[in-house]
Amino acid sequence: MKEIIDVEMKTRKVDFSKCKTDVLAVGVFSDVEGLDKLNRELDSKLDGAIERLIELGDFKGKEKTGATVYGNDNIGAKRVLLVGLGEKKKATLDTVRKATANAAKKSVEVKAENVSLALHKAFGGRFDLSAVGRACGEGAYFGSYRYDEFVAESENGRRDCLKVELIDPDSAKLRKLGKGFARGVIIGRAQSYARTLANRPANVVNPAKLAALAKELARGSKGLSCTVFDEKQLAAKGMGGVLAVGSGSQNKPRFIVLKYSPTSRIVKNVPTVALVGKAITFDSGGISIKPAAHMDEMKLDKSGGISVLGAMKAVAELAPPINVYGIIPSAENLPSGTSYRPGDIITTFSGKTVEVQNTDAEGRLILCDALSYAVKQGCDIIIDIASLTGACVVALGKYKAGLMGNDDRLTRALQRASEDSGEEVWAMPSGDEYAEEMKSKIADLKNIGSRWGGACTAAAFLRQFVDDKKWAHLDIAGVWSFDKATEFTTQGASAFGVRLLTTYLISLTKKK
Ligand code: BES
Ligand code: MN
Ligand code: ZN
Repeated sequence: MKEIIDVEMKTRKVDFSKCKTDVLAVGVFSDVEGLDKLNRELDSKLDGAIERLIELGDFKGKEKTGATVYGNDNIGAKRVLLVGLGEKKKATLDTVRKATANAAKKSVEVKAENVSLALHKAFGGRFDLSAVGRACGEGAYFGSYRYDEFVAESENGRRDCLKVELIDPDSAKLRKLGKGFARGVIIGRAQSYARTLANRPANVVNPAKLAALAKELARGSKGLSCTVFDEKQLAAKGMGGVLAVGSGSQNKPRFIVLKYSPTSRIVKNVPTVALVGKAITFDSGGISIKPAAHMDEMKLDKSGGISVLGAMKAVAELAPPINVYGIIPSAENLPSGTSYRPGDIITTFSGKTVEVQNTDAEGRLILCDALSYAVKQGCDIIIDIASLTGACVVALGKYKAGLMGNDDRLTRALQRASEDSGEEVWAMPSGDEYAEEMKSKIADLKNIGSRWGGACTAAAFLRQFVDDKKWAHLDIAGVWSFDKATEFTTQGASAFGVRLLTTYLISLTKKK
């Protein structure tokens, strides 16, 4: 099997126009008259080629666009890639991230060996340089990412490696940029790792395989340990939710627990955080089977769990002074003679009973056991991430994840981390009126609500399992993938949450 594209990252002190490279990426805003200092300098060395291109109207600096000007003997670069940044007043850190991703993607497409990033110049002193560096690191991985491990032909081929460098002639600036860049590289690499696992089909990744991957990750990471419960241990523990959902498949369920503890710098009064991720390796709907159209996409129903895996990888490398659990309940939801049925009453790990009214509402049944487990481990903050409901996609489209929770401070902290990471969320309710709908007449709860507000009732169900702990829930059903390639990404799994969750965890260490 082919490896995912290998990205080499470094910073280099060099003059922009002297930099020898296949692609020199610079930014251009759409609403700024005339060229900025860097682009003016390049333009004069290129005999006005940039000005001409803009005057002809071939490139306007609009978002999602780019243009290439070829180098000459006066500059070191073979190509100058002008990346559109859109309106200057609307620019955010995500503009930097997407522009970098755009540059990395174009570089892979032209089979460049290396790309040198000078995009930060366009933003002047607008953002903290370290944050800009981080966005560049994350964006470079995101844009260069490809999923082609099962493609044998090299027709639409690519190089195995892209060398990315962040350049600046000013060593003080480069130091600040480089600090963030190093973090961005760790987070970006973890997200690419997660995208590959999420993209793999269900005949390649089943619960046991996922558990093996988690063990492998822990073996290779300082500060990470991994425990896996198989179906026998699940039965012994009374994890009735995970067992019921996994009962229809030959591929038995697993309950994966990763634990990160700081190897040094142990600081008192830091919370223990649990990240809980839904990992249904395939969701056919079970006996309440789904229609055939697009069912193949349900290989992505493990995305939440895999984003937790990715976040744990990043956390282990960043080594913050906090304790983090990564809890990943995993099962395959298939119909068979051994499946759980509509009407079944199951006893969950918490002791609460649930009447199953629809076997396709399976995510909440594996998550409730995992949430109870996190409570039992004494976690102070619990964040779950799950492709939980089609209703969330109806509500928010494919742009934002639903964010529910029981603690305003935690919700706000996640909203800040969302702005910082460019993974967008939108706050939604999950209070008493929704919880009311989840009451059963013959058990403590049932697993579906009414026709309306499906994302909220699903979250209200989960809320019943977190006791008095601070809890937040991310419904990523809409954002788990890109339906088609865009200027900054290939199609397929997004591994949404790796950046958001890692950024949130790091933010905990900055306070006070
Ligand atoms: N994995 C699906 C949710 C989903 C749907 C993700 C579409 C991405 C796109 C989940 O397990 C599911 O099937 N949910 C049901 C719940 C219903 C039966 C209450 C749904 O949304 O239809
Ligand atoms: Mn389902
Ligand atoms: Zn599902």
